[in-house]
Amino acid sequence: MPPREAATRELGQGMDRIRIVGGTKLNGIIPIAGAKNAALPLMIASLLTPETLVLENVPRLSDVRMLKRILGNHGVDVTVAGKRPGMSTEDGEDVRLTAAHIVDTVAPYELVSQMRASFWVVAPLLARMGQAKVSLPGGCAIGTRPVDLLIMALEKLGADIEIDAGYVIAKAPNGLKGAEITFPKVTVGGTHTALMAAVLARGTTTIHNAAREPEVSDLAECLVKMGAKISGIGTSDLVIEGVTSLHGATHRVLPDRIEAGTYAFAAAMAGGDVTLEGIEAKHLQAALDKLVESGAEVTSTETGIRIRRNGTPIKAVDVTTEAFPGFPTDLQAQFMALMSRANGTSKIVETIFENRFMHVQELARFGAKIRLDGDMAIVEGTGALKGAPVMATDLRASVSLVIAALAAEGETMINRVYHLDRGFEGLEGKLSRCGAQIERIRG
Ligand code: UD1
Repeated sequence: MPPREAATRELGQGMDRIRIVGGTKLNGIIPIAGAKNAALPLMIASLLTPETLVLENVPRLSDVRMLKRILGNHGVDVTVAGKRPGMSTEDGEDVRLTAAHIVDTVAPYELVSQMRASFWVVAPLLARMGQAKVSLPGGCAIGTRPVDLLIMALEKLGADIEIDAGYVIAKAPNGLKGAEITFPKVTVGGTHTALMAAVLARGTTTIHNAAREPEVSDLAECLVKMGAKISGIGTSDLVIEGVTSLHGATHRVLPDRIEAGTYAFAAAMAGGDVTLEGIEAKHLQAALDKLVESGAEVTSTETGIRIRRNGTPIKAVDVTTEAFPGFPTDLQAQFMALMSRANGTSKIVETIFENRFMHVQELARFGAKIRLDGDMAIVEGTGALKGAPVMATDLRASVSLVIAALAAEGETMINRVYHLDRGFEGLEGKLSRCGAQIERIRG
């Protein structure tokens, strides 16, 4: 059994399937959860201080549960606050993380191989304890995802790094030292790593070509609440003035722009009128612009973003994935699902990850006509898709199948939905409340 499947079973999710009967328009309100990609680095930042970091609005996802276990292994006390009056099941959790004593600076293969982001513990462990031994990561099977740039950043900060038997062994017995770090390409994980290491380094660090993703800014803002000195937040040049220690803080995880974009595309594809509650347009402007070009109506409301498409055909639109503020790679598969029903042919270019096209063969089962040419997918829209048995392959690919199934005629059975549980909280509930015919079959 592959490691993730074994871990998934251990987390009690089994091999659930999702059954969807397509063809119903979506109408209603979808509350957007806290962002997985912000929650994970924020939780990891708790390793930087012996005091308590309280994170509000943490999504209930299997990746979050896995990271709680990984942090627990290092000695972090993780507690979840009980429900309070007025809280709904849609509200995220309040998680308290206290790393009073770090008892272990080793992050073993069995844990890190489940989730790539857990590799980022290397930075706070090194910054606070002067050493870390972390297994090379696993994660979604979307091409080779090296960590060379993360290692480069730590070396610039004075760490001594060795790779031995699948482990990165990092040492800085006399602490880290501020430095100039220039990333040759934009890397979210590299920027998170450099930030978490630099906040406790001696002197000034400048990160050039830093990722500008909102989740990077969310981490930086939380670090500032913990006592870090960071300027340039939201830009591609971050300047960090190292401090000797950080303290506890309370921080609310920002809303998940990828979850929001996914439901936006779902509404545009199936048709209907959906308000995505709690999300700001500026966090997914590139995706919303493409939606408008494709013929959907997008408006900002007081509570979020409203997406409508009633009867107008879907226009074919070309997309190239880019680092923020460009079109996110994490919405590429979902956009491809939408384009598979467009009037005309669209070109989708993936520039961030090689091989991030596993969804193509599954979308083909619905009758989608997609041809691959290197890093480009050429999608010839068809008027109608037909439900089919399909297999979830990775997190974002899986949800593109959900979107296609909602708009397809007849029944779709999606197998291996544990991938979805890594990134989409309460997916069936949120969609069925908008009128979708969707149910989980426990396996
Ligand atoms: C994060 C997100 C992921 C998203 C991606 C890009 C989390 C938990 N995951 O992943 O959902 O799709 O950003 O927006 O936040 N690279 C190197 N060397 C390195 C590091 C990265 O070559 O050391 C390359 C990668 O292979 C990729 C590109 O840089 O081609 C961007 O990757 P990166 O931004 O680091 O992605 P992640 O942080 O892993």
